[in-house]
Amino acid sequence: MKETINFNIIHNRKNTGSVKYDFIPKVPNIKDVIPMWVADMDFKSPVAVEQALQKVAKHNIYGYTYIDDEYLSLLQNWYKSRMSWNIKKEEILSIPSVMFGISATIRALTKVGDSILVSQPVYYPFMDIVKDNDRKLVVSPLVFNGKKYEIDFKDFEIKIKQNKVKMYILCSPHNPVSRVWTKQELLSIAKICIKHNVIIVSDEIHSDFVYENYKHYPVCTLSKKIAENTITAIAPTKTFNLAGLQAAHLVIQNKKIREKVIKSVNATGFHVLTKPAIEAVKAVYRDGETWFNELLKYLQQNRDILVKEFSGTKVSVQDMEGTYLAWLNCKQLNLSCGDIEKLFLKKADVWLHKGSTFGIGGEGYMRLNLACPQQTLKKAIKQIKQVI
Ligand SMILES: Cc1ncc(COP(=O)(O)O)c(C=O)c1O
Repeated sequence: MKETINFNIIHNRKNTGSVKYDFIPKVPNIKDVIPMWVADMDFKSPVAVEQALQKVAKHNIYGYTYIDDEYLSLLQNWYKSRMSWNIKKEEILSIPSVMFGISATIRALTKVGDSILVSQPVYYPFMDIVKDNDRKLVVSPLVFNGKKYEIDFKDFEIKIKQNKVKMYILCSPHNPVSRVWTKQELLSIAKICIKHNVIIVSDEIHSDFVYENYKHYPVCTLSKKIAENTITAIAPTKTFNLAGLQAAHLVIQNKKIREKVIKSVNATGFHVLTKPAIEAVKAVYRDGETWFNELLKYLQQNRDILVKEFSGTKVSVQDMEGTYLAWLNCKQLNLSCGDIEKLFLKKADVWLHKGSTFGIGGEGYMRLNLACPQQTLKKAIKQIKQVI
C-alpha cells in the first residue's frame, strides 16, 4: 500500500466510539458542533499502521505476546535520531498509557499523604492522579511575563520546602500553554529538585511536536545526576494518533528506582501491551517518520492560520512553541469559562476545552485542538469570530 499523505481530507469520526466526537456535553439546544477539545487528531495514522494491523488480523490468533528486541531498537532509533537521546534497552518499561505509568510511579516512590508538585495551568489528570492516589497536591502557578509562561522558581522552591514535596510532575512540552522548556529552564527545575530530594516525573508525550526555532531537551539527557533523579514518560500515541490502541513507555536510568517502579507496575496486574499495539508501535517507528515530518509542517500552518485569523479580535492566541493545543486568551470577552464554553457551543457550534479545568491561571482561557483539516479549522475560527 502506497502512502498518500493528505491531511486535508475530512474523515467522519461520529459514532465510531470516539470520545472527542460522541461525548457531546448535555447542554440544551446544541447542534452539530465541531469538537476541538480532547487531544487526539482528526487524521488517519500512517498507512504502515493499517498494514501492520491487517497482518495481525489476518493471522487472527491473539495469544500471549512479548516485546521483542526489534521493538526496543526501533524505539531507541526514533529518540536517538530526533532528540539525540541514547536510551538503553534495559531502561525501557512498556505501559498501556502515560497516566498509568505516572500513577504507578507515584505509588512506587511516594507514600500516602506525601506532597506532589505540579505547575498550573496543566493537563488536569495530573491533579486527579495525585488526589486519587491519596497524595497531597501542591501547586506552583506558572507566571505570564507578557510574552510567555514561565516557572516562578522562587515560588517553586518555597512550595517544595514548605510542603516537603517528594515529587514534581513536569509537563515537557507543556500542555496547555504550549511552552517548550529551554535547556536553562530545565536545568533550573532539576537543580532545585535535586537540592531538595524531589524526584522528577517528566511527561514528554508531546515531545515530537516542536515547531521551528524551538528544541525539546529530554530533561534526563542534561546530566548524569538529573538522569538518576528522573522518570521520563514517552509515547507514540500523540505523535501517530494511536491513543485508542494504548502504548506508552517509561524510561528510567536509575536502577533502584526502576526496580521499584517495575514492582509497582507489576502490582497492578498489567502484563504486556496488546499484539495490535506492539505491531502498530513497530510500524510507526520503522516507517512513520516521513508522515510525521509532513504532519508537523501541516500543524505549523494550522498554528499560523489560527494566529492570523484571531489577530485584532477579542481572542488572542498564546505563542505556540510546541504541541497541537492552542491556548486562547478570551479575557476580553469578560465571561467565565463556563459561559464562554456555552457561548461557543450554542452559538458558534464549536466545542473547546475550558481553561479553568487546567487549574490556577486557566480562568478566561480556552484550549483549542488544531490537529484537524484546515477546512475544519477555518470553519471553526469563522464561527467563533462571529460570536465574539
Ligand atoms: C501531557 C499529557 N500527558 C498524558 C496524556 C495522556 O496520555 P495517555 O493516554 O497515554 O495516558 C495527555 C493527553 O492529552 C497529555 O496531554
